[in-house]
Amino acid sequence: MTLPSILVTGGAGFIGSHTAVALAEAGYRPVILDDFSNSSQRALDGLQQILGYTVPCYTKDCNDHAILLDIFQRENIRGVIHFAAFKAVGESMQEPLRYYRNNLGSLITLLEVMLEMNVPDLIFSSSCTVYGEPAVLPVTEASPVQPATSVYGNTKQVGEEILRDVVAAGKPLRIISLRYFNPVGAHPTGYIGELPLGVPNNLVPFITQSAAGLRGPITIFGNDYPTPDGTCVRDYIHVMDLAEAHVAALQNLQKNSGNNHYDVFNVGTGQGASVLEVVQTFEEVTGHKLNYHVGPRRAGDVVSVFADATKSREQLGWTAKRSLREALADAWRWELVVNRP
Ligand code: UD1
Repeated sequence: MTLPSILVTGGAGFIGSHTAVALAEAGYRPVILDDFSNSSQRALDGLQQILGYTVPCYTKDCNDHAILLDIFQRENIRGVIHFAAFKAVGESMQEPLRYYRNNLGSLITLLEVMLEMNVPDLIFSSSCTVYGEPAVLPVTEASPVQPATSVYGNTKQVGEEILRDVVAAGKPLRIISLRYFNPVGAHPTGYIGELPLGVPNNLVPFITQSAAGLRGPITIFGNDYPTPDGTCVRDYIHVMDLAEAHVAALQNLQKNSGNNHYDVFNVGTGQGASVLEVVQTFEEVTGHKLNYHVGPRRAGDVVSVFADATKSREQLGWTAKRSLREALADAWRWELVVNRP
């Protein structure tokens, strides 16, 4: 039996590589397209270790119409999960055109090729950043989308609008945008995980690198926020739970959605954790004492955001299964593997 081939753009990245595993486990054949501008061959080696075979991978740019067309034909692509995008908030403010060109250009090219090739199903990586600083917590999909505070965030918002518009125009496309909360952790084997280039911006990779002695002390960005312990609250979701949400969304499109469909879903655990709680949980789980101090607030941070994931549970049959403790243990195992000489 031939397995349905799913194109995973950005499939060598953090979420993409874990989703390739989840797809393979669910009986799909992942086909990766990645330009390796912010990812590494290591992810492919890790996939080979986990799955026992080489996942096909095209080292190409997702903005290139002819290349996409060729891959769709050659690999008999049946659906697409689109991760390929630039994602650094700070850099996006310095390089807006590069971000808009890459993140929106690749999406438009992909949609054109999907229409040309009669491939209707697309899962799009969106972000809880579209909710800004929410007035009511937890946030549901009906919570208002707020003006983006970064170019990166705006590429996600405009991306969602493009998808809504193309479906509203009656095109034969079935699309789900997944609004991710904060993905953390790694595959429990330690073969794949997050590989940030340079100094990590995100909390958990900074923690694991600091614990491994690669970085100095952790700075907690502000402890005077209106939260129970004064530090910001986020919804940290294990990357394998997030990966499995993509499979659930794809299956939902294939089963239930007629031939013209657009929807959005939150992908979070529903539990908020503060920065201090993450630090303390890491210490408990790993037995490592972290060196940290409190610094000033980071510009652009929201105080508190966590998901109401009821809609995903009810309509996609998906719910997060793994705890923050597991995520931090897995992130730490990965850090140890990465650093093994
Ligand atoms: C950030 C992005 C978001 C993006 C997400 C995933 C911003 C404003 N938001 O989310 O758009 O989708 O990453 O890449 O950049 N923290 C510390 N010390 C650190 C690092 C972080 O205290 O060294 C705190 C932050 O203030 C925040 C929490 O940890 O409260 C999580 O930060 P981070 O992991 O960077 O994620 P977000 O800012 O939530």
